[in-house]
Amino acid sequence: MTTLTYKPDGEEQAFAINLNEGETVLDGLLRHGHDVPHGCRAGICQSCIIASDSDNIPERAQQGLKETHKKLGYFLSCSCVPSAPMSLHPARLDAAKKTAKVLEKTHLSDNIVRLRVEKVFDYRPGQFATIWKDQHIARSYSIASLPANEQFIEFHIKRIPEGCFSSWAYDELTEGHEIQLQGPLGECFYVKSDTEQALFLAGIGTGLAPLYGIVRDALQQGHTGNIDLVIAAKQSESYYLVEPLLQMEERFPQLHIHFISQKITQRWPTNNLIEGDVYDEIKKLVPDFKHRKVFLCGAESFVRKMKKQCFLAGANMRDILSDPFLAFGA
Ligand SMILES: Cc1cc2nc3c(=O)[nH]c(=O)nc-3n(C[C@H](O)[C@H](O)[C@H](O)COP(=O)(O)OP(=O)(O)OC[C@H]3O[C@@H](n4cnc5c(N)ncnc54)[C@H](O)[C@@H]3O)c2cc1C
Ligand code: FES
Repeated sequence: MTTLTYKPDGEEQAFAINLNEGETVLDGLLRHGHDVPHGCRAGICQSCIIASDSDNIPERAQQGLKETHKKLGYFLSCSCVPSAPMSLHPARLDAAKKTAKVLEKTHLSDNIVRLRVEKVFDYRPGQFATIWKDQHIARSYSIASLPANEQFIEFHIKRIPEGCFSSWAYDELTEGHEIQLQGPLGECFYVKSDTEQALFLAGIGTGLAPLYGIVRDALQQGHTGNIDLVIAAKQSESYYLVEPLLQMEERFPQLHIHFISQKITQRWPTNNLIEGDVYDEIKKLVPDFKHRKVFLCGAESFVRKMKKQCFLAGANMRDILSDPFLAFGA
């Protein structure tokens, strides 16, 4: 058993926290009744950062943090399983969070909302930000906009019934409201190198958000190689942004968009809607992934399965970039 001490803001005394074998600092603090903000519980969203004065912070718990934060003794409490005592206190994250006004809110479908918020930091399309609903609830959302052309940061949020962030964003959040953003985070974005390399992008649901940013970024940076963009859905009526996607495909001959849906539920304006199993249809579309750069986004199970499929079909693991939308619940 490892014993920690934790001194919350406003308390005179530190509390002792006994961690169970293999328990993370976050789980230990929550089990002892301390209200520590958290989101993904997987080392991704950075909402669970706390600080330690001890010099034995495990390296893994600081992965992905800025050097300035590491020097301040900040670490991800969800990724920290200490083997020796540590003294802890809340981190001063105010400077890491930026306040952004919601400029525009548009319902893109009956369960997806688009938020355009003030551009409060620079980013690469495809990265994500952690959005705070209040001091306690934070969730990550991918960025669909282009920093060079668009004076806002765009998110596509799918409403999850009972979801504490997404339902609030879909039903209650209004234009003019201020939210706090932490980021940008993540490394799933286009980097200009070989502009003739074939690109393959696949996403499911709001996995389209980062891909919409990445594909436009690649085209804007003069990518001339073949680009296949697969958008998967359970049924065709779930698709959104169809019109701008089809217009983009018409404008750029190197871009080929494939809508693959398990079930076609309506008439479609073009011939690029395929009914079938997404994995089988992708095998038919792209039998060989050798020399392709791959971008995969959306539900974790989809990303995991596609990663394996692309690798087995010849893709180099180094050429596969992905953003699994982990969903752990509050
Ligand atoms: C890097 C990253 C990028 C992301 N980008 C996006 C994005 O661009 N757009 C987007 O909509 N989401 C995105 N997500 C997912 C997002 O962060 C939230 O997990 C999601 O919106 C649910 O949050 P919530 O607070 O509404 O639900 P919670 O209150 O967290 O969960 C409520 C319940 O619903 C379940 N649940 C959560 N998500 C789903 C789901 N997708 N399907 C079924 N059940 C679910 C939970 O397990 C829980 O039981 C991303 C996640 C990550 C890690
Ligand atoms: S990084 Fe720890 S909860 Fe997300």
